[in-house]
Amino acid sequence: MKTHIRQKFIVGNWKMHTTAFEAEQLARGIIDGLVVADHVTVILCPPFPYLALVGDMLKGSQVALGAQNMYPQAEGAFTGEVSPTMLLDLSCGYVILGHSEGRHKLGESDEFINQKVVCTLAAGLDVILCVGETLEQRKSKQTEAVLDRQLSTGLAGVPSEALSRLSIAYEPVWAIGNDEHHATPQQAHDVHLLIRRKLSQVYGETRAQKMTVQYGGSVEPENAAAFLGQPGIDGVLIGGRQPESR
Ligand code: 13P
Repeated sequence: MKTHIRQKFIVGNWKMHTTAFEAEQLARGIIDGLVVADHVTVILCPPFPYLALVGDMLKGSQVALGAQNMYPQAEGAFTGEVSPTMLLDLSCGYVILGHSEGRHKLGESDEFINQKVVCTLAAGLDVILCVGETLEQRKSKQTEAVLDRQLSTGLAGVPSEALSRLSIAYEPVWAIGNDEHHATPQQAHDVHLLIRRKLSQVYGETRAQKMTVQYGGSVEPENAAAFLGQPGIDGVLIGGRQPESR
């Protein structure tokens, strides 16, 4: 089979961390310290209040701006929410959707995530759709079924023409911010194969081979290369600084 050179994504999900000062320092360090190779997209996703600040700093750099979430309406009476129009206004290019913290801590359903995916793509922003199983689901051998459901529902109504603006992030819930449970590169690789097989069933082998599927879950400087070295792992989604556990 023909292998495509897929775009590699290196994404920083800052979650609900940093002050404005820290956000500025972190962005400065990344901009100044980074050499971005061909076929690599580097994206910073700061919290909403710092999008404008970080976005201004990223202008003219090789680093793109992303948001951590979005509400699926252009505007309206949705107190506390942020629309795709607002994100575009701030020169955001990407939105993380379906993150496990939204799914499990805030109760976001697959259907709601799907509304967001469709709305985000229609608005002209690129989507990073997160999927992943919990430890209980893995232990009871439901990983494939869970991913199947999250992908089938999450991608419902997404036309194949929009796939070049959509990437998948496999984030096993049990490995996120977890000092005890780390996924091995082999475990991540095996699930990436399942994900690409599912994408291939829905969109066909050629399109599935072109899609970026990245890994997230306790990726650190020490293990990033091992994940990135696995065939089929096209990038890493990095969080960090979990106040609950540190
Ligand atoms: P950690 O890198 O802290 O495990 O977080 C991963 C993540 O949730 C990225 O979206």
